[in-house]
This record gives sequence, C-alpha cells and structure tokens, in this order.
Amino acid sequence: MKIAFVGKGGSGKTTLAALLLRHLATTSSGTATADGSPPPVLAVDADINQHLAAALGAADDEAVLLPALGDHLGEIKEYLRGTNPRISSAAAMVKTTPPGRGSRLLGVDTPNPLYDRLVRPVGGVRLAVTGPFATADLGVACYHSKVGAVELLLNHLIDGPGEYVVVDMTAGADSFASGLFTRFDQTFLVCEPTVRSVGVYRQYVGYARDFGVRVSVVGNKIDDDSDVAFLREHVGTDLLTWIGRSSYVKAAERGQVLPIDSLEPTNVNALDTMRAAVDSCVKDWPHYTAQAAEFHLRNATAWANDRVGEDLATQIDPEFVLGPAALAAVH
Ligand SMILES: Nc1ncnc2c1ncn2[C@@H]1O[C@H](COP(=O)(O)OP(=O)(O)OP(=O)(O)O)[C@@H](O)[C@H]1O
Ligand SMILES: [Mg+2]
Repeated sequence: MKIAFVGKGGSGKTTLAALLLRHLATTSSGTATADGSPPPVLAVDADINQHLAAALGAADDEAVLLPALGDHLGEIKEYLRGTNPRISSAAAMVKTTPPGRGSRLLGVDTPNPLYDRLVRPVGGVRLAVTGPFATADLGVACYHSKVGAVELLLNHLIDGPGEYVVVDMTAGADSFASGLFTRFDQTFLVCEPTVRSVGVYRQYVGYARDFGVRVSVVGNKIDDDSDVAFLREHVGTDLLTWIGRSSYVKAAERGQVLPIDSLEPTNVNALDTMRAAVDSCVKDWPHYTAQAAEFHLRNATAWANDRVGEDLATQIDPEFVLGPAALAAVH
C-alpha cells in the first residue's frame, strides 16, 4: 500500500509519518508476516524540508550522509527503463514516463541495485530521501526533478497487501504539477485545529477528489474536545482520527527517541486506526496504470514533448498493466 502524508507546513506530517512507519515496522503492532517478521516497509522523504531521517531517530551527521534520489536521477531512469523499446534513452524519460513491457519493476523489499544504492536503514525502517532542496531549486526544474524521482519509483513499484510505502510530502501546488498526488492508495492530510490548516485541507481535497484520490484527515496537536469539534465542523466525516499533543513527540524533539511502544496509548490507537484505513484500501491496478498514462499524456503535451524533442505519447504501452502479474513476469 502506498501512503502519502500531506498538510500545511509545520502541521506534523513528518512526525506522524515517522510514528506510523515505526508502528508498522514493529511486529507487535503491524500486520506480521507469516513467519512473524515485521511487514516490509519503505519510507521516502519527498518534502522540501528533509526531516524524516531525524524523526526516525537519525543523528544529524548520519542524515547528511544519506544518498539522495535527486542526485541519481539519470541512474534511476537508466535502470527502470530496462529494455523497454518504447523509451529511446534515459534522457527521453520524464517523471511521468510509465513502465511498459521491458521496464524494470520494483517490489517493496525485493533486492535491486537501486535500493542497494539509494535506500538505507534508519531507526528500524528502510529510508530513501529526495535530498535537500536549496533555495535556488524552488520553482525550477531541479526541484521538480527531485520529486520526479519519487514519481518514477512509485510508478514502477508493485506493493502487495501488508506491504507499506510511506511518503512524506508537501501539500503545496507542486504535488499537483504532475500525477504524484494520484500515486497513493491512502493520503493522510495532517490537520491542526486551526483555520489555516483547514484551508490547506480544502484546497487539497478540492483538487484531489476530482481524481478519485482517497484523502483522510488526521487531526494533530489536539489538546481537548473543542479541538476535535473544530475539525469535525470543518472537515466533517473526512476526519479519520487524531493524535493528541504528545510528550513522547516532545521528548523526541529534545533528542530522546523512545521505543515506539512507549507512545501514549490513545495515540497508538490512532495509529491503529490509520493502519486499518490503509489495509482496507482495495487495489485497482488497471485504474492506477490508466491514470499514470493520463498524466503522462498531459505532461507530454504541456512541456515534455518540447523538452525531449520526441512524441512521448508513444512511450505508453497499451498492452501493459502494472501489478503483481507484471512483477512476477519480470522476475
Ligand atoms: N502530536 C504532537 N505533539 C507535540 N508536538 C508535535 C506533535 N506533532 C508535531 N509536533 C511538533 O510540531 C513541529 C512540526 O512538526 P513536523 O516537523 O512533523 O511538521 P511538518 O508538517 O513535517 O513540517 P514541515 O512542513 O516543516 O515539513 C515539530 O516541532 C514537532 O515536534
Ligand atoms: Mg516535514
């Protein structure tokens, strides 16, 4: 299952992504696999502010050494296109180029050279990061190319039930600049009980719902019933659950990352509710594949055909459907 965390700046996306990741990665709380080992979990930091490693417990000097997806975009494209004859070169591959026959596909934890190079264990979770965004990157191609690496990975990644990919994102317009916001089974919109946070929710669902994106609100920094009532009033039944203001989170902020089972029980219950919401998602691979093609066509027409100098619509393989069968065929 692919999960996104979005929301207003500072609402707690990174904090909640890290809590859910650690919760999922713990056998006692996650959907344990048949042999009792923790479920496969992959974390991706795609936010402008790269704080997921720290929230998972990495020290600063450890976090800066993480390999960045954005620095390896050429390599990622070269690997993923494999022998797909519809993609003439890595340079002709844009962030929305969908997989087809001959493309290489990824599982959540199947070994492959990209994961060897770009995924590192942090705090009991496997983590990939887009890399820090310099101020100069914002609003220009480099910024999009960093997030573009994540879109390419998600479009080539087949996740089964009980396997989780969690992406810490921005809620800004950049998620809508491509098809990235449609690449998730479940989007958690983290919302503080404030007018501005609710405003970001309205903007996000206003656009995402048109594309069938499943968005649930997770309240955060909730102090009392009036906070919950405020959120209910503004987001209605989209409110899935909420996390209270947490002394566990505060301790982590002071450098003391405690074992996840010492999180406040009400907050653990909220994480359970979130996991149950994810587990109830039903995969529709043909729809997922068709939506990737739709966004690729839009991007091709809008800018990518001109940029690459080819008709990128021909990259779409009409016979190909992403999903477990495609992955099994490749391996
Ligand atoms: N439930 C909580 N209880 C107490 N503090 C919290 C809680 N959730 C988040 N915080 C604190 O709020 C601040 C912002 O949280 P966080 O960095 O997770 O937000 P974010 O949405 O990822 O921000 P950004 O937009 O900068 O990426 C942090 O200092 C964090 O420790
Ligand atoms: Mg963050």
